[in-house]
Amino acid sequence: MIVKSLPVGPMLNRCYLIVCEETRQAALVDPAWEEDTLIREIKSHKAFLQYLLCTHGHGDHVNLVPSLLKAFPEAKAVFHKDERISAPKERSVRLTDGDRLKLGNLDILAMHTPGHTPGGVTYIAGDYAFFGDTIFCGEDCGRVDFYKDGPRDMVASLGKIRQLPDHLTVCSGHKYGRFETTTMKFEKENNAALKCRTLEEFLELKG
Ligand SMILES: [Fe+2]
Repeated sequence: MIVKSLPVGPMLNRCYLIVCEETRQAALVDPAWEEDTLIREIKSHKAFLQYLLCTHGHGDHVNLVPSLLKAFPEAKAVFHKDERISAPKERSVRLTDGDRLKLGNLDILAMHTPGHTPGGVTYIAGDYAFFGDTIFCGEDCGRVDFYKDGPRDMVASLGKIRQLPDHLTVCSGHKYGRFETTTMKFEKENNAALKCRTLEEFLELKG
């Protein structure tokens, strides 16, 4: 399994290319901003793009979904059923918690992690977890003021995330702190949001 982190756009976004080495089937997590860069990466890995894995619908993560669906007729946009993303029905995979996708010989698990948005998804593939704006490695979690139940949902999602195995590599949707990636163990010990155990503690952190 190949995972490549791709810095894109003006907001420190990170798009990730995942490639199954045996079949060359590929996915992009949060395809945004720099179409030429992403297409060049896919080509340089001699890969076939199957999935656009959207962690959530904010434009800075998914603004290339429509154009990449045009450029790659085999590809489908993947997102939670509660998220609004501009993709035709026949080119979409609408997820619920626990759904799995095959990418060549790789297995990808979709975990519903709302809080930043109602349909936030964390994707787990091999030893990697792709969180979008749910957690920022070495830092905190994403904003929770986009909808009414954001804080409550985020606390529940953080509880699920704390159950993930320590060895996973943590890949976030922006590089806001010192680290490009960390491990789940590091996050459990250092991430300010993950360390909160109650809604009260969390609300205090978020001020
Ligand atoms: Fe976001």
